[in-house]
Amino acid sequence: MSEPAVETNALVKVYGDTRPVDGVDLTVPAGTVYGLLGPNGAGKTTVVRMLATLVRPDGGEARVFGKDVVREAAAVRRRISLIGQYASLDEDLTGAENLRLVGRLLGHRGAAARDRADELLAAFGLAEAAGRQVKSYSGGMRRRLDIAVSILSTPELLFLDEPTTGLDPRSRNHVWDIVKAIVAQNTTVLLTTQYLEEADRLASRIAVLDHGKVVAEGTKGELKASVGAGAVHVRLRAPDQRSAAGAVLAETLGAEVEFDADPVALTARLPGGGPDAAALSSRALAALAGAGIAVDAFSLGQPSLDEVFLALTGRAREVVA
Ligand SMILES: Nc1ncnc2c1ncn2[C@@H]1O[C@H](COP(=O)(O)OP(=O)(O)OP(=O)(O)O)[C@@H](O)[C@H]1O
Ligand SMILES: [Mg+2]
Repeated sequence: MSEPAVETNALVKVYGDTRPVDGVDLTVPAGTVYGLLGPNGAGKTTVVRMLATLVRPDGGEARVFGKDVVREAAAVRRRISLIGQYASLDEDLTGAENLRLVGRLLGHRGAAARDRADELLAAFGLAEAAGRQVKSYSGGMRRRLDIAVSILSTPELLFLDEPTTGLDPRSRNHVWDIVKAIVAQNTTVLLTTQYLEEADRLASRIAVLDHGKVVAEGTKGELKASVGAGAVHVRLRAPDQRSAAGAVLAETLGAEVEFDADPVALTARLPGGGPDAAALSSRALAALAGAGIAVDAFSLGQPSLDEVFLALTGRAREVVA
């Protein structure tokens, strides 16, 4: 197996009396997109900043392609690029000027710097806006320019810290396409996100971070399987039958039942390793009919990454049984 892009061991960061990163072990295989998923304040940015050598760990260790982020920081920096949560473009320069400026800092000379800048502007759909000052750009255009700047030097490891937060769906899709293209060129991407859909689309493995600790890690399939066999979603005709329906489902399925925000909807989470989910569902449907509860819709679904996240971080809906 080739050397991992990132390896951390009991990584810790302390600020005053808080521990935003509290013993994190991560292994990011090279050549993949790895998702670091977690709610606000989970410690994602702090982990990324330590890996990018911007802040020093207070405990444990971290290696990037085998190089220690503290003792061999310069070697780490040569192999990485970071797009922070907040953009770092020069507002008064045009898009093309921003790219050329960074290109020159990286040692690209004259015509080569111009060519590379033009190539990236075209690839990122910014050719038309190239001559305009960045302060006139929309959020989506800035994000694309940010990413273009960070791959001027084709890093081996790219940190993307919430690359699509605040973007509209179209710009988000655009950024996703860019990320896929970057990975196709053998760059490893460590992506932090609060969006399950983003992790689902892009990442091959995911670590879920909460309160500075990794609470789950694996492929998407493994994470989904870890929270059970799936969920039964039921819509009733009458909201006043919901608590009776909840009791019937809890009893026949041996499952945890949650009330959805919609007053006629409820969800039962099937435990893993039990009887066949389809057989259980038909039993539940029969029991509801037997109890005189009118059902408008009934469906059986695989757990979504959303449900995984809720189950793991405890930010779940109201549990009634
Ligand atoms: N320089 C700092 N000084 C003090 N506390 C900090 C500092 N940087 C981060 N923290 C705290 O560490 C915790 C984790 O922050 P971090 O930015 O890593 O979270 P995050 O997962 O990136 O959250 P978000 O999704 O909101 O970006 C927070 O409680 C934050 O207030
Ligand atoms: Mg953050």
